[in-house]
Amino acid sequence: MSQVTEYSEKVIDHFMNPRNMGEIENASGVGTVGNAKCGDIMRMYLDVDDNGIITDCKFKTFGCGAAVATSSMATEMVIGKTIQEAMKVTNKAVAEALDGLPKEKLHCSLLAEEAIHAALWDYAKSHNIEIEGLEEPVNDIDETEKFYEMEK
Ligand code: FES
Repeated sequence: MSQVTEYSEKVIDHFMNPRNMGEIENASGVGTVGNAKCGDIMRMYLDVDDNGIITDCKFKTFGCGAAVATSSMATEMVIGKTIQEAMKVTNKAVAEALDGLPKEKLHCSLLAEEAIHAALWDYAKSHNIEIEGLEEPVNDIDETEKFYEMEK
């Protein structure tokens, strides 16, 4: 019988057993992004300590399985990192950490990258700091002209 999906075991694992799902009360930064085309929404919560280390990260995602899996993986990838290291958690890095995503699901990993950026932006604003390389987030990533860096 032919496979209907090409999801990796890691994607399925993070979808079935999402890590760090939920919310952080009084988080240092919160960011919400969506994609109007598919209707999926992702919210990321970050706690950042005085040394600029991300001590906790949680997510709430109303979206497809790949969006849940990328959110879950992204939280694991930023916890314990500095802000600058977290900036390197791109859609490509998240997709690669999940052993790849089907081509039509790559935009889900962009949602994870953008949600982290939106939470960092919120943190930077409330702490009056600038984060190198961070641009003001957009609510609807479908409006961005970003293209996906990873082809599979
Ligand atoms: Fe849009 Fe997955 S289908 S985030």
